[in-house]
Amino acid sequence: MNITLNTINTISTLPETLNQSLKSIISHLKDHTVNDHNHQTTQSTNDGVLPHISATLIHTVLETHDTKSYFFRSEKTLNQYKAGAHINIEFGINGEAVKRTYTLSSSPRNFSSTKQTDEFSITIKRVNEGLASNWLFENLKEGGQIKVSQPQGNFVLPYQPAGKILMLSAGSGVTPLMSMLRYLAEAGNRSDIVFLNYSQSPNDIIFHDELEQLSNTHENIDIHFSLERDIDAPSSFSTSSVHKGRISRKQLSSIAPDILEREIYLCGPQTFMKATAEILDKLKFEPSQLHLENFTADLSSSTLLGYSAEISFTSLEGVIQSSPSKTILEEAESAGLKPAAACRTGICRSCRCKKTSGTTVNLITGEESTSAGDYILPCVSVAKTATEIEL
Ligand code: FES
Repeated sequence: MNITLNTINTISTLPETLNQSLKSIISHLKDHTVNDHNHQTTQSTNDGVLPHISATLIHTVLETHDTKSYFFRSEKTLNQYKAGAHINIEFGINGEAVKRTYTLSSSPRNFSSTKQTDEFSITIKRVNEGLASNWLFENLKEGGQIKVSQPQGNFVLPYQPAGKILMLSAGSGVTPLMSMLRYLAEAGNRSDIVFLNYSQSPNDIIFHDELEQLSNTHENIDIHFSLERDIDAPSSFSTSSVHKGRISRKQLSSIAPDILEREIYLCGPQTFMKATAEILDKLKFEPSQLHLENFTADLSSSTLLGYSAEISFTSLEGVIQSSPSKTILEEAESAGLKPAAACRTGICRSCRCKKTSGTTVNLITGEESTSAGDYILPCVSVAKTATEIEL
């Protein structure tokens, strides 16, 4: 999945009416998010998060008409990671370096194998007018090279989860959950797993055949698809697992009547996340059992936008009066700088840089950084007072 990433932290950007119900569900995740963002102040370099390891494309698999899996071999073994992790990648388009963040779709179990210690896959859906996803889809061929970072992220599965699990995804949000499911199947984990994916139509289901196969070969894995249109699924589909429509309380309760007993792993577009959070709130679902990732934070609706303060960048002369609707990263780019940035939603940390003075606000967590020398994520930060950034 194209990471426009994470999480929870999108609560500050959601409509006020939803905030209350969402917050009651996911407030515990703030800690998790804050931990992630604490890297702003505790790490002084971007080591590991910037793409620096060469990786060669071995082959691709066309998963749907607009989604491909890309299988790479890296020149050195990646650090061991947990299922659900993401990597930052960098490649060139017309001489320009392009950075993006994608979740790994491969199972990390490969990393304990002697055969495939350096192989991994990412699965990318073409996005309308998406520069990177379309370029990769059309141009990256076997033998092509990119650079990758070490795997990272907090939306990950424990090494050996126990108990009941519900994996909920929509569209390309299936990618990290597929990594988790592959890992659990390969590891022989006996957890009772319900896997429910929402797609537009049968032709849009990513990993359909493999999911059906996992269901057929693992009695503890129960796969369900829900389709918005063309509900008459092809005969190759197991019709008992095909449902109609968007997520609803009735549907969830019928597919997983014991939902309150399950750990939920949730990933998809923001509208899907909001709808799911509302349902879980009404069901009085225990927040500590919810793990989620949302790769499409919409910062433009943040209530924390609106400050206009002076920003200076150490490599530029002069001072910029910031626009109330622009992040510090956008201000830097408008001024002609080219800071590292992949996800632009506060997850990958590739943009992290030092603030030498001033107060900034993180649009996602709402946290203020007041100390000189703090490291901030400019892609999700705005200046509240006159601020200098080491860029
Ligand atoms: S955290 Fe990814 S670009 Fe800023």
